Amino acid sequence: MDKFYITTAIDYVNGAPHIGHAYEKILTDVIFRHFTQRCDNCFFLTGVDEHGIKIQKTAAKNGITPQELCDKNASKFRENWKLLNVDYNKFIRTTDKDHEKISQQIFEYLLKKGDIYKNQYKGLYCNGCEAFLSEKDLTEDGLCPIHQCKPEEVSEENYFFKLTKYKERIAEYIKNHEGFIVPSFRTADVLNQLANIEDISVSRAKSNVSWGVDVLSDPDQIIYVWIDALSNYITALGYDTENPSPLFREYWPASVQVIGKDILKFHAIYWPALLMALDLPLPEHLLVHGWITIDEAKMSKSLGNVISPESILNNYELKEPDAFRYYMATAAPCGKDGNYSDEDFKEKVNAHLANSMGNLLNRTLSMLVKYFNGDIKSEFIVESDLISSALETVKIVENDFDNYDVQNAGLHIIELVDKANKYITDSEPWTLMKNGEDVKCGQVLTSVLDTLCIISSLIYPFCPNIAKNMAKQLLFDITQKLDDLSAGNIKSGHLIDKENIVPVFLRIDSEFAQKTKS
Ligand code: MSP
Repeated sequence: MDKFYITTAIDYVNGAPHIGHAYEKILTDVIFRHFTQRCDNCFFLTGVDEHGIKIQKTAAKNGITPQELCDKNASKFRENWKLLNVDYNKFIRTTDKDHEKISQQIFEYLLKKGDIYKNQYKGLYCNGCEAFLSEKDLTEDGLCPIHQCKPEEVSEENYFFKLTKYKERIAEYIKNHEGFIVPSFRTADVLNQLANIEDISVSRAKSNVSWGVDVLSDPDQIIYVWIDALSNYITALGYDTENPSPLFREYWPASVQVIGKDILKFHAIYWPALLMALDLPLPEHLLVHGWITIDEAKMSKSLGNVISPESILNNYELKEPDAFRYYMATAAPCGKDGNYSDEDFKEKVNAHLANSMGNLLNRTLSMLVKYFNGDIKSEFIVESDLISSALETVKIVENDFDNYDVQNAGLHIIELVDKANKYITDSEPWTLMKNGEDVKCGQVLTSVLDTLCIISSLIYPFCPNIAKNMAKQLLFDITQKLDDLSAGNIKSGHLIDKENIVPVFLRIDSEFAQKTKS
């Protein structure tokens, strides 16, 4: 693999980030960090989507300008991602001047090419989707199926993009590239939608929507959100229809674009059509995740159950986000919905991170200190089934990530932790010591510590702080690439003193009766 480019959806800034947004960013960050362990050239893009009627209306309601609203909320998104250790390379805002300039250039280019044309339009507009819907898209009651609201009747002169021109090519592409949509069960739905697709409106009259980027050749119109929004994935790299930047040439096409299931149509149909119109290659994969519910209910302001990631860290007085990252990243099977509940969060991270993983490190190091003064003797270093099984797990986890199956990767790592715990229980190093079998005891402990080095590497994408802390106590270089991992990570000599053994994750035990609502 010579390069890896990963993107997230860009979030609307008409509100503050909630744990649904956080789920996507954490999932992406975990995948990104895993691939940095396999490849030197990785790039991670995220950002915010700042134009459109929703933002215009929210700003008006709050008595501030749309730009003020965007500035305020864009900062909240950045702050939350910082708290969660989301380690992106670039954070794009669609109000960035260079982005606006290139989206205008793209629009003009497509106009000149004949792929964009002007037409009178009468249609049903859903403000939630920021899209025109056809009658076929609506529920029996005439509502938007996603936002459960009645779309507005709009009659305007708009510019249209000739989506229908690319319909067959897109269908061919999807059929010939089996892994394009991950998981593949969503493909059939896309092909059905594609069959009924019409040309799409790509501008709005400024008299109706003013918060947007002007169409250069027709300033009475603004570029309607999806062209502006989707193009962020290439403008962020410095795409330009005339002279694309070296960064763009290096990283496009994206290796994987992570999005929620609600915006699949835009990414599996509109986006490929746009790229085809620009003569650009399509992304290799779209990873389509499900939705996060809270206590099995849809998150919504009206239900008052919207939780911000920040409030969870505060509630549990977590100095590091690792536990929340681990929980979210493994919350749902690949592509399916997942759920957050306080109880489950506490139970799972206490069981996996504190009891199984943290304790394994702690008790093994403690025995090493108690029995051998913290020293590894050269005769302790031997091959073991446990370390072979750890190296097998590396391959299994790599394969999970190749399929973007983050939940399974997490499960496989914890399975290895459980195996190592069982190995200690079965080998009974304390009995070996009592029976005078010191070398055998030292070998058991060393095998487990060697395996813990591998575990620290594998868990790093999920829990970067915990992993670094583990590696520090094991004198293990966690920056090495996964493919270079082998047995023999623990060297002979003095490893650790009692006072340097520190728990890597403390159990969450307090009761939090009151959930913080954002
Ligand atoms: N701005 C558009 C995306 C443009 S991408 C070129 C948008 N924004 S959004 O803020 O509504 O959603 C951003 C991402 O968050 C989407 O991928 C969406 O699926 C995801 N989520 C929003 N709520 C969610 C949950 N409750 N659970 C999981 N992800 C969800 O759509």
